[in-house]
Formats: sequence, C-alpha cells, structure tokens
Amino acid sequence: MKIKKAIIPAAGLGTRVLPASKALPKEMLPIVDKPAIQYIVEEAVKAGITDILIITNRGKGVIEDHFDHSVELEAMLEKRGNTEMLSTLKNTANLANIYYIRQKETRGLGDAVLKAREFVGNDPFAVLYGDDVIIGEVPAIGELCDAYEKYGKSVVGIKEVPDELVVKYCSLKVSRLEDKILSVSDMIEKPALENKFSNFSILGRCVLDNEIFDILERTPLGVGGELQLTDAMRELAVKYGMIGVEFSGTRYDMGNKFGILKANIEVGLKHPETAGELKEYLKELCKTF
Ligand code: UTP
Repeated sequence: MKIKKAIIPAAGLGTRVLPASKALPKEMLPIVDKPAIQYIVEEAVKAGITDILIITNRGKGVIEDHFDHSVELEAMLEKRGNTEMLSTLKNTANLANIYYIRQKETRGLGDAVLKAREFVGNDPFAVLYGDDVIIGEVPAIGELCDAYEKYGKSVVGIKEVPDELVVKYCSLKVSRLEDKILSVSDMIEKPALENKFSNFSILGRCVLDNEIFDILERTPLGVGGELQLTDAMRELAVKYGMIGVEFSGTRYDMGNKFGILKANIEVGLKHPETAGELKEYLKELCKTF
C-alpha cells in the first residue's frame, strides 16, 4: 500500500541548542537558506506523500507562517519583478497539504505521535523527526516506504553509529536480509553499553503500522519520564518483526550544535550561490590551524 500521510513531530524543547532555540524552534534553524523543517517536508513530498501533520506547541507558530503565503512579501516581489524568489515563496506555500496540531505538554516523542491518531485514520504512515535532516539523491523516507510495500511490515531508518551515540539513541537487534535491508527483532532505548544489541540505531525516520497507536496508549512512561516511541516500536518488533533500511542520504542532527554546523558547511559547499566562495574560505582558514 502506498504511504500518503506523514507526521513531523516538532514540539520538543530543544534544550541542547539553547539559547538559539529559546524563541526560534530548532526545526526553523537555517541550513544555508532554508529552515531545517523545509528540507524534511520536501523529502516527504519527493517520496509521494501528500498530507503532512506537523506536531507543534506554544511558540512554534512561525512554522505555520513559513508554509503559508506571505501576502505582503509576495506583493513586493511582484512589484519589483523578482519573479524567481516570488515563485520560490509560492512553491513553499504550496508544497503539500500541511496540517498542525499541538502537543500541549512535552511528554516525549511517543506522546507526540499519539496526537496524530485521528489524522492518520486506519492507514500506515510515515514519521520524519523534525530535527533530523537527511540529504541525498533519493528521499530517505521513500526508501523506507518502498521497503514497507515490499515486506508489509513497519520500517525504521537505520545506520551504524559509534558507542557514544548508541547510549544516547537506541540499539537494535538485527539480522541482514539483503544489501541495506535488515530484519529487526528487538530494540532498546538509550541502553547502557553492556545492554546494547548492536551499533545499529534508528535515525529520524520510520513507517509505522497503525497498531502503534493502541500500543502507545498502554505503554508506560520510559527513560526520562517520557513516553518513548522506541518502547512502543519494540512491541511491534518483537511481535511481528520490523524492517531496518540503511538509507543512502547523509543525516544531520539539527538538535545538536555540531550537527547544525556540519549541515551548513556541507550544504553550503554544494549550493550554487555559496559553493565557490565557501570552498576558498575553508581552504584559507585551514592553513591557519
Ligand atoms: P528530541 O529528543 O531531539 O527532542 O526529539 P527535544 O526534547 O527537543 O531535545 P532536547 O534533548 O531537549 O534538546 C526528536 C524530535 O521529536 C520532537 C522534537 O521536536 C524533535 O523534532 N518531540 C520530542 C516532540 O514533538 N515532542 C516531545 O515531547 C519530544
């Protein structure tokens, strides 16, 4: 079955990137000339997703403004004959059917996903974490949707990460099915190193069967006193098995200061307006180390 609906949880507090994220949601931090969340919406659209629910909270209204028309700006650009930027702005406002719902208390990613129950209805759906930008030739979530269609099981986007990240993310029990595709039979959120299954972790993308909502409803609060999506996904993995896809793009963690810097440098080195100048600048700068 084709996945048409996606949710983007963007209601976290972003404490790791304070004070930048005090008044500006971390999902709106720019990568060169677009906010992080726009890359994520564009990835979903490229994968054929038509309806997107963004989970927000207080202070995240600028996300709604960003995907809306800016009547004054558009009128001014029209008057000045800046047709290129005018169409860029209009395209941003027309990317997809975007809906919003508030998570009134920040009770964890699992709780944020639960807010999407009515929007999702009875279908499987995609989840794109609002602070994980993945840049690549093909949309990462499209690679996961393809695996969902092939195997008919919930899918997670995975990569191997070093020990210092496994303990901050999660660890998956896996066996290889084919190149880039693994079977996932168990998982643990933020494990102590001696409890890890492997160095494979979930990074920012999944396609989930609807049953996840019933599971989330009965999942107790987990690590950090939050409702953890991983704890609920574990039940799916143990009961039916899940599929792990080693997506091909590069993932940038926009909830982390170094992730923001890496994203800006690497995207800046490819952007037609900044590539040449940035390359020269970095070469000169490196000579001074
Ligand atoms: P994080 O764990 O990175 O969120 O969640 P956080 O709470 O913002 O991070 P720190 O630790 O305080 O810096 C991953 C994604 O899930 C969303 C976040 O907005 C982020 O995009 N999220 C997290 C929610 O929507 N609601 C929550 O209750 C928690």
